[in-house]
Amino acid sequence: MTGNGLSTPLANASLATVLQNLQNSASQEFHSANPIPAAVNHSLSFMAHERDAVFMAEWICVGRSDEIAETGDYLVHEISSVPVLVVRQESGGLNAFVNACAHRFACLVPNESGKAKRFTCRYHAWTYDLAGRLVRAPYMEMKDGFDTSEHGLRRLHCEIWEGFVYVSLAEKPATSVTSALEPLRENVVGRFDMACYKTIMRRSMVWGANWKNLIENFTESYHVPMAHKKTFALHKKPLEDYVCGEDSDYYGYHRAVQEAETGSGAAHLDNKRLEGEWRRMMVDFCVFPSHLVTLMPDFLWYISVQPEGIGKFRATWGVAIPPEILADIPQSEFETWLAELSTYMDTANDEDKTLVEALYQGSASPLLPTGTFHPIERNLWQFVRYLNRVCQRHVVKSP
Ligand code: FES
Ligand SMILES: [Fe+2]
Repeated sequence: MTGNGLSTPLANASLATVLQNLQNSASQEFHSANPIPAAVNHSLSFMAHERDAVFMAEWICVGRSDEIAETGDYLVHEISSVPVLVVRQESGGLNAFVNACAHRFACLVPNESGKAKRFTCRYHAWTYDLAGRLVRAPYMEMKDGFDTSEHGLRRLHCEIWEGFVYVSLAEKPATSVTSALEPLRENVVGRFDMACYKTIMRRSMVWGANWKNLIENFTESYHVPMAHKKTFALHKKPLEDYVCGEDSDYYGYHRAVQEAETGSGAAHLDNKRLEGEWRRMMVDFCVFPSHLVTLMPDFLWYISVQPEGIGKFRATWGVAIPPEILADIPQSEFETWLAELSTYMDTANDEDKTLVEALYQGSASPLLPTGTFHPIERNLWQFVRYLNRVCQRHVVKSP
């Protein structure tokens, strides 16, 4: 839709046309590839297909494990309009549920996060334990044959990988997160031990663009020197030093070393996990489809992107910091340090927001030049190939 509420020509592009565009794009070699076809970010038919092929089927990051570290800690999220509840169990594991009461499906937990011993629905007070079992259903003894064991919460698949929590709405996910991401862990990010980073911030923001525009933006650092003059460009990593990772069906990444051996962006002296140039390495990666991470020896920023319409998305993001960095911040200065970091992140997000929204606005018409990629935009091409693969697969599966 345009700002005046009128439907754009690409909004009406048929699913068959968009899938063909996507197939054509994904078939090109990287050197001669064109950017993601505009209709992929504007077609309403494709959005519906994508919802089923991507968000109802794939692993979606909902946050970090340390955000819900103790028994009864919980967080809520939304995946493709399905409200999701993730709860730390007495066993130490995590269970994920559809956040809807098993009586008449009222949203069970309205808070974004918290701690609970039981979950009681606000409507008729059905009460569930942390494992999602119905333990109380007032007056239901008036119904012959009612059995509480048949009315628990609907479970979802949930997995933890390197400190991140993933949930899948699929009946049977095609792969496990751990096995899909093992090469990324083993060759690149495992040495950082992201799970030991402590999450200190969790926010969400709504922008006026297609969700994939943010994936496009985050997976390339070509724009950093020009667009992030007040923030990330200050770390001074020459574009020539960026290296794109190997092609994968499940993730894409690029990395670069920064000049300074110490200070912001480099490993703390007490960090014994990283060696050599990895002590000043930044890795930007995307776990397909929608989990974005900037990983540094002293800082981690993650985003989980959710569509909220064709030209609107919600980005839930958080920041996590390694323990040795946090230990250096005096307690009395922590709030000030946190406020400064928060301002820095807001500035960086503002720098991106107008550009991500410009991608959506500029690509709204069918009248466009052919476009091309810079060599360090290889991850965008990988993302197009991923999207094509899962969307074509869903066509084959559909009756
Ligand atoms: S809808 Fe939850 S108890 Fe009735
Ligand atoms: Fe950016």
